[in-house]
Amino acid sequence: MFKIIERRPLVPNLHLLVVEAPEVVESIQPGQFVIIHAGEGSERIPLTAADWDKENGTLSIVFMEVGTSTGKLAAMNAGEELNTVAGPLGVPIDIGNFGNVVCIGGCFGMGSIFPVVRALKKAGNKVITMLEGRSRNLLYWEEKLSKYSDKVIELTRDGSRGYQGHVKKGTEILHELNIKPDRVIANGCTTLSYLAVREYEHYNVPVIVTLNTIMIDGTGMCGVCRCTVGGEMKFACVDGPSFDGRFVDWDELAARRKQYISEEAFLVHHSGCGGI
Ligand code: FES
Repeated sequence: MFKIIERRPLVPNLHLLVVEAPEVVESIQPGQFVIIHAGEGSERIPLTAADWDKENGTLSIVFMEVGTSTGKLAAMNAGEELNTVAGPLGVPIDIGNFGNVVCIGGCFGMGSIFPVVRALKKAGNKVITMLEGRSRNLLYWEEKLSKYSDKVIELTRDGSRGYQGHVKKGTEILHELNIKPDRVIANGCTTLSYLAVREYEHYNVPVIVTLNTIMIDGTGMCGVCRCTVGGEMKFACVDGPSFDGRFVDWDELAARRKQYISEEAFLVHHSGCGGI
């Protein structure tokens, strides 16, 4: 069993979960994920690590309350225990001295981009972190991210903080600041990742995205996280979850994600969970 140290809302619909998982954090690296099983009746939820403390053996995760199982997780509190925290899973994201790296975080991705930003800064990169949200009350961890960023740029769609616009405004801002990226890394929902790829692909540099595929076992056995990258079949859980988004088959990915939407909506409706 894995004891919850903290569970609190960060911003509307997004929660911070800190859990005791010393064996997981012992070897975890940026870009890796865990699969959480909260308890009886819950699904297995793949969630990317947002931070960890090796000394205390704690793992931090930012998750979105989006359906039945994440709704149950959001209702748990410090002192309660999770059945399973399996990991670290997946291939760590490639960290090197690339030059100018633009790290984009939206939604839960403002959390999961943190270990990547920290590692890139330590590797000697100039890190430009862009945080994107609908409004200022949906932005978080600016201070934490700014410790390892040369610049933090905030983007809100309603203009309530930072620049007004979506992820698509990013290249215009970089142009204004006279920054040419050598690598772009985007963490967030599928729409944000897709838009980041379309916005930055003209630079002809890698645009690394973390794919949010449906997962069951997380070990390459069930095939449910199948995706196509560069014309080859990949399993996001063992070959990813990070890929160069320029080569991802986005139509296939979107179609596979849609397959379970009606079941999830049914469960939310009949469980009384406040999800979606
Ligand atoms: Fe089963 Fe990836 S989650 S193969």
